[in-house]
Amino acid sequence: MEKLLITIDGTSGVGKGTMAKLLADKYNCQRLDSGAIYRAAAIYLGKLNIEKEDLQDPEVFAQVCDKLKNIPLTFAENEAGVLQVYLDQENITQLLRLETTAAKASSFAVIPEIRTALLERQRKFALDYPRLVAEGRDMGTVVFPQAQIKFFLDASPKAKAERRYKELCEKGEKANFDEILALLEQRDYQDKNRKVAPLVPASDAIIIDTTNLGIEETFAAIEKHLQEK
Ligand code: C5P
Repeated sequence: MEKLLITIDGTSGVGKGTMAKLLADKYNCQRLDSGAIYRAAAIYLGKLNIEKEDLQDPEVFAQVCDKLKNIPLTFAENEAGVLQVYLDQENITQLLRLETTAAKASSFAVIPEIRTALLERQRKFALDYPRLVAEGRDMGTVVFPQAQIKFFLDASPKAKAERRYKELCEKGEKANFDEILALLEQRDYQDKNRKVAPLVPASDAIIIDTTNLGIEETFAAIEKHLQEK
């Protein structure tokens, strides 16, 4: 089968995961959810009782980076086709999706050595899959600059918060619009302004603003570019 490497980067809550799943299903690719790796790293460090302040100790820091290079993570779809994430044998899929986990991931993600450790993990993952859709913040810029086609998705913070709010309400979960908006904005600010691998579109990325697009329209826009390639 022909090799294919597609990257999708973009801001928080913009729908990268949804697009990656649609692309992976239709074009027979494996998915790499790099955000899940950063989130899992935050959970892993929590389990090891390591807080950001502990990383001031060079010995602890070196040990942590070493452990992260081989973080015991596995991904598998359940019967419903929903990607499940396991840390060691524990299914951490629910824990992974919490906004508190995302915030912690974003704060660890500013540390260059942690990014380097996780970069190796991501590239190792790609070696096993000749057809891959990789989504995150630095897939097209840093992790896979050689990708055949790169997308960068963005939308207004208000539109993203509205989608997230609706999604939570539909699931019957507690939701506060202002809180969702503030957290999304805070995380985007942190991701765009870090020194290493900040969130920026790759120079050769196709930028799609999804503020006024639904899922089908966004996917159609992506496919149009894919077919033109
Ligand atoms: O994509 P997701 O929201 O799951 O990512 C959680 C956090 O992990 C992001 O806010 C970001 O700080 C970090 N991350 C990153 N680089 C990636 C993917 C995620 O820094 N490639």
